[in-house]
Amino acid sequence: MKLFLDTALIEDVDAALATGLVEGLTTNPSLMAKSGQPMMAQVAALAARVPGPVSAEVGALNTEGMIAEGKALAAIARNVVVKLPLTEAGLQACQALRYADIKTNVTLCFSAAQALCAAKARATYVSPFLGRVDDNGGDGLQMLREIRTIFDRMDTSTQILAASVRTVDHVVGAAVAGADCVTLPPNIFHALYQHPLTDKGLAAFTADWEKAGLSIL
Ligand code: G3P
Repeated sequence: MKLFLDTALIEDVDAALATGLVEGLTTNPSLMAKSGQPMMAQVAALAARVPGPVSAEVGALNTEGMIAEGKALAAIARNVVVKLPLTEAGLQACQALRYADIKTNVTLCFSAAQALCAAKARATYVSPFLGRVDDNGGDGLQMLREIRTIFDRMDTSTQILAASVRTVDHVVGAAVAGADCVTLPPNIFHALYQHPLTDKGLAAFTADWEKAGLSIL
């Protein structure tokens, strides 16, 4: 399972890239607005930094507008992926962009039925929103398991990109369920490699190291 970062802030991207663990980036209009930068320039700056796919979302609500915006976004850099909402217009735009050899990420997916439609529309990625499903009384990870089962039976090339991730347990659950990628807000990304028992154990080892005057170099 690939680890993507879910942010449009350059400082978040730089801090996470330094770990060497980030394999892609996703943004959405709310994250882009938080950056306070002109969208096209910000997508270009992000795409130049990240060594992997960078999803940038269209704002148009009709098919023609999505296709035009998608082509403009894809022209920024080879690693830009066009993010489209999971609506009838978005599914139509997804097929047209695929025909133009442009990668797509169909987003705002809240059910296995919707994910099935994204795969039929030949999306490169589909983004099921785990946290928002949980927020609304559903079970995001159960939705993810259903999508994995359906996609395996369909033998589709559409990749499952687990999104709206709120906890480290969501990340582990997504990996166990067989998500191809997961996109993480910076706080969850950095929480992945942290554990209080690691800190406690390291403090004890360091104290013993100093007490005994150990050295290597
Ligand atoms: O980029 C989509 C996504 O991950 C949204 O997450 O936390 O706003 O539901 P959230």
